[in-house]
Formats: sequence, C-alpha cells, structure tokens
Amino acid sequence: MKQIISVKNLNFSYGETEILKKINLTINKGEIIGLIGENGAGKTTLLNILLGLLPSKNNVQVFGNRPGSLVARKKIGSMLQGDLVLSSVRVDEFLEEVAMQYSNSIPLEQILEQLDLKKHRHKFLKELSGGLMRRVTFAQAVLNNPDLIFLDEPTVGMDAQARHIFWELIEKLREQGKTMIITSHYLEEIQQVASRLIVLQKGKFIFQGTLKELQDRHKQTVITFTSEYEKCVFAELTGIINIEKNSSQVVIKTVDGDNTLKQLLSKYPDVSNIAVEHETLEKIFLQMTTDKEQQ
Ligand SMILES: Nc1ncnc2c1ncn2[C@@H]1O[C@H](COP(=O)(O)OP(=O)(O)OP(=O)(O)O)[C@@H](O)[C@H]1O
Ligand SMILES: [Mg+2]
Repeated sequence: MKQIISVKNLNFSYGETEILKKINLTINKGEIIGLIGENGAGKTTLLNILLGLLPSKNNVQVFGNRPGSLVARKKIGSMLQGDLVLSSVRVDEFLEEVAMQYSNSIPLEQILEQLDLKKHRHKFLKELSGGLMRRVTFAQAVLNNPDLIFLDEPTVGMDAQARHIFWELIEKLREQGKTMIITSHYLEEIQQVASRLIVLQKGKFIFQGTLKELQDRHKQTVITFTSEYEKCVFAELTGIINIEKNSSQVVIKTVDGDNTLKQLLSKYPDVSNIAVEHETLEKIFLQMTTDKEQQ
C-alpha cells in the first residue's frame, strides 16, 4: 500500500486558541476518507494544512513532500468551502484557463458533459446559482486529473439530481484508484462512499475506522414487529435497552441484535412484520458528540 498522507502529532492554533490537537493520520492510495465533525471542529483547518495554505512543521507530508510543494500541488485537486470569486468570466472560459495550467488535464468537453454543465457553459460565473457554482468548482477540482482530491462539503446547495450525478462521479473516481478526503454534514451520503470514517470533535480525532466498526462500537439494533402482547413481556429478552409500543407495533432497541432476535423468534413465534435495522450513522454521530460534551 502506498502512503499518500502522513501526519504525526499535529497541533495547530489560531493565536492562543488551539484548533487541532495531537492529530495522527496516515492515508494510503485509494482510500476514501469521510471526515465528519460538528461546525468548528477543525475539518477545513486540517484540509488547509494538508494543502499548504496554513503552516505546518515537517510532521506533515503529502506525497512524501511538504504540503504546498510543487510536487504535491500537481497531484492534488481541491474543492474548498468558499465558492469561486464572482467574476465576469464564463464557465467554459474559466475552466479552459484552469486546464491550461496543467499538462495532464481531462478534456473540457468530457467534464462539462459528465457534470451536465454544457447548457450552462456560456453563463458568467457571477450569474450562477449556488448549486451550479458548486458543480463548476468540482469541475475545476478534478480537471487536472489529480491523484488526491480534497472535497470540503461538496454537495452543499446541490439539488437532488446534481447530488446524484456528483456521487456517481465520485464512485467512478474511486474505481480509478483516486484518494479522497471528503467532509460532509450529510452523513447518509458520506457513509455510502467512505472506506474510512474519521470523527473530529473539537480538534481531536475521537474515532477512525469503517462504518461497520463504528456501528459495532455503538452497537444498537432496532427491531420492529407487530404483536398483541404487552410491551413489558419483551423486557426479559437479552440486550434490551428500550421498548416502545404504539397500538400493536413494538419497537425494541438492543445492544445484542442477533441474540435478541433469536430469542424473540423462539419465545414469541407469532410476532409478525419483523424489520431489523442498524443504528444510522446520523444517530451514532449525535450520540458520540453528545456523550463527549457531557464528559
Ligand atoms: N482565520 C481564522 N482565524 C481564527 N480562527 C479561525 C480561523 N478560521 C477558522 N477559525 C476557527 O477555527 C475553528 C475550526 O474551524 P474550521 O473552519 O476548521 O471548522 P470546520 O470543522 O471546517 O467547521 P464547518 O463544519 O463549519 O465547516 C473554529 O472555531 C473557527 O472559528
Ligand atoms: Mg469547514
């Protein structure tokens, strides 16, 4: 596995305020990192350091070089949070200009087609809607056929169709072996594509791993079924942490999904309409960040 990013014991402060605390991170080729965290957690700050837009010591390396080095810059594409400066340049003129800076850029027509931007190509940047602007910013980020792509809340403002096109393109880039760090507050979307999730909380990594590992650690399964029994009879099942009943629909939460389900079916074979769901990333995330706040 080829190491693309290496961060060792990184601290970063704005003046007296510590923003990132003892960050350790290794990212290998082909990984898709979903970087999640509340507003102000430090996600954009970390990306800016990796891009060399904020200073770091030699404990941060990108492609074996200092962030912001020419070697690294050539291989990186980025879509940051702020949109492009509004200007009287047309979409295709702007992208052509970006493409000219690189020797290995993807044909402009291909990008316009893929992002469904052809019909907007003659618009001035300053007349674009928020979602269209994000698409042009994304086009600019991938135009140089980068190996490493930073996407900071890429889908904000995109409509459902643009979002769909966007995630399909990310999937294609993943298949091509690109390495990506994507921040997003849309956890449902990020969990589909990320090979590793990182949860940043007030400048510290509080979790790194796969969605499965995260779910296992906060293992909760929700089992829904229909039954005429009183809800209290289900309290004796193993692993139960909560039971709710609304007319004949029972919803139980358990930390031991497999065994709870086995017992339920053997003791109460007449229950019906059974549905089993793992806790969503959204709920786990809320639970994690709230737990930490209380500590
Ligand atoms: N130029 C700056 N000067 C001083 N403080 C800053 C500066 N930029 C960011 N901060 C502070 O650093 C902290 C982390 O900000 P950052 O933008 O990295 O958060 P984030 O995780 O990207 O949040 P969001 O989800 O809102 O984008 C915040 O408290 C923010 O106010
Ligand atoms: Mg941010």
